[in-house]
Amino acid sequence: MFENLKPVAIDPILGLMTAFKADNRSEKIDLGVGVYQDDQGRTPVMASVKEAESRLMTLETTKSYQGMAGDADYNQRMLSLLFGEDHPILASGRVKSIQAPGGSGALRVGAEVVRKARPESALWVGVPTWPNHIPLLGSAGFDIKQYPYYDMATREINIQAMMDTLRKVPAGDMVLLHGCCHNPTGADLTNKQWDDIADLALERGFIPFIDTAYQGLGDGLDEDAYGMRMMANRLPELVVASSCSKNFGLYRERTGSITFVAATSERAEVVISQAMSTARSIYSMPPAHGALLVSMVLGDQHLHQQWQAELEEVRLRISSMRSLLCDSLENNATGMDFSHIKRQKGMFSFLGISTSQLERLRSEFGIYIVSSTRVNLAGVNSNNIGYLSNSLRTVLE
Ligand SMILES: Cc1ncc(COP(=O)(O)O)c(C=O)c1O
Repeated sequence: MFENLKPVAIDPILGLMTAFKADNRSEKIDLGVGVYQDDQGRTPVMASVKEAESRLMTLETTKSYQGMAGDADYNQRMLSLLFGEDHPILASGRVKSIQAPGGSGALRVGAEVVRKARPESALWVGVPTWPNHIPLLGSAGFDIKQYPYYDMATREINIQAMMDTLRKVPAGDMVLLHGCCHNPTGADLTNKQWDDIADLALERGFIPFIDTAYQGLGDGLDEDAYGMRMMANRLPELVVASSCSKNFGLYRERTGSITFVAATSERAEVVISQAMSTARSIYSMPPAHGALLVSMVLGDQHLHQQWQAELEEVRLRISSMRSLLCDSLENNATGMDFSHIKRQKGMFSFLGISTSQLERLRSEFGIYIVSSTRVNLAGVNSNNIGYLSNSLRTVLE
């Protein structure tokens, strides 16, 4: 039987990671893989999470099954984190959430539920988007269509072209939007642009599907939630996939949520029963550990404050690396405009250099960047920034 299978090409990012590991130059830099790194180049466990972990060791009394929705406390606390404690949607009963295995699991469950609700709906994704959106959402059976998002020439969102396309989206189709810290471009919608898209969704009848994997890494926990909070206020229906991988540093614990806003509380109950049945048919139940940690951190005043301070440190470090890199490239007179790096948000931006320049960075300087030229700004630190900008100047000369 297995002779029928053809090998699948290794994911380019994983291939890059392997090449990086095998490179024995001490000055090598990895700007490819999408995880946060501190100024020492480590991806540490947050102290608040570590403390929750040690408390959990003594408090946890069972490893028995938890159920398809995961931890009820986690689900409630995640809703408050996403929408804010006092958001009217929370009291309305129109919003319901279940735990999911990471943001990826959340996207898939959300997609399956929407497909059951309206099999004829297409899903519109921006160009470019996180490459994994296509297999994750496409495997649910969606017809995937595209709207223009980023303009490589201006290094800004092509809002005119985006809105022109969204104006033609048929009623009932889904439109995927990145909540904040757009991956791969770092170009986020302004609040006004979010408002305009909500107007259009109301007018056209399309339904936003928001993927929020970086809440707190852009402008702050509340600021980064503007789009989904406003849309939950204004629109009858909404789907939100969220992840704790980045803002809690829980990558391998696979901790996320899928959240549905429905027109009535009765409908929300029905939707969530479908989400649970979907989970049952794919993986049965989400893993418990990460969600128990998040729930403990968010539910304890001291740990909550500590986590917010740690997250703020992450956010400010990325933003300061963005500014420093941009300034150092300008001082190095590369002849190219890198000011977008300073303007954009979250971990990623496109460098916008050529394939041969990218290749030289890797072969001559041990600087690893994916072929789209997306760089992880969290891979930049005070030790490597000088080397990075000098190397860039050399390949751009
Ligand atoms: C835009 C976006 N959505 C979703 C995810 C999925 O995150 P998780 O690791 O929690 O599955 C990522 C991870 O990189 C992402 O960048």
